[in-house]
Amino acid sequence: MNVDIHNHILWGLDDGAQTPEDTLALAKDAVQNGITHVIATPHHRDGKYDNPASVILQRVDEANRLLEDNKIPLTILPGMELHLYGEIVQDFQAAHQTLITLNQTQLYVLIELPYDHVPAYTQRLLFDLQVEGYVPIIAHPERNHDIRERPSILHRMVEKGALAQLTAASVAGEFSSKYQGISRKLIEHNLIHFIASDAHNIARRGFALKAAYEWIDRKLGGQYTDFFKENARLLVSGQDIAVPAPRPFDRKKKRQKFLGLF
Ligand SMILES: [Fe+2]
Repeated sequence: MNVDIHNHILWGLDDGAQTPEDTLALAKDAVQNGITHVIATPHHRDGKYDNPASVILQRVDEANRLLEDNKIPLTILPGMELHLYGEIVQDFQAAHQTLITLNQTQLYVLIELPYDHVPAYTQRLLFDLQVEGYVPIIAHPERNHDIRERPSILHRMVEKGALAQLTAASVAGEFSSKYQGISRKLIEHNLIHFIASDAHNIARRGFALKAAYEWIDRKLGGQYTDFFKENARLLVSGQDIAVPAPRPFDRKKKRQKFLGLF
């Protein structure tokens, strides 16, 4: 089983696939990347798209039938990419469920931060989610401005029990060297637990997982790819993953380097 835990393969719900044909094209791309299962994660509460659980579950069924009819060996599982907002915990507690965890295992929640900053209430909200028994996964931290400037922000989140997922295209260098550089830095500091496609369309934002894993194999070593692939498998069945201690960012070293001391 090879799993992609974050993508926009379901048609007609957000800025990902627009038509069933788009879904089919993305599914073929996933298979070419060696993927057998994808957790579909349409945007929810991001200010543009609202996709409550019932809508996503229905579209997952329709999409799986479409893949079966077209004999594409890929299974779509339900999930959502939940934009950070203040009432997430209350909405998870509500009797009428609008939110879903990844593959509905009641454990992992995919959280999207704003791109330009990390809101002050983030740490508190992540903590409250964990008190309720959920494990928040920060989607693509490498694309958040504040985390790029100060990766110690992510370090604090991971230290307190959150997990994080890089976008495959960032790792593979398909966006820019800036994203690839920060991706490497975050992996080397044990701040990353998953690589996922965040695929939207085959023209510009496909799966890219194969290229990402090849780059990690080459630059960082096969133990990292094994770790990321295994974590995605464990996530699907709602099992805990083994989290290595995050490595602190050495500020002193950085200052000495800046002063030309070594
Ligand atoms: Fe996404």
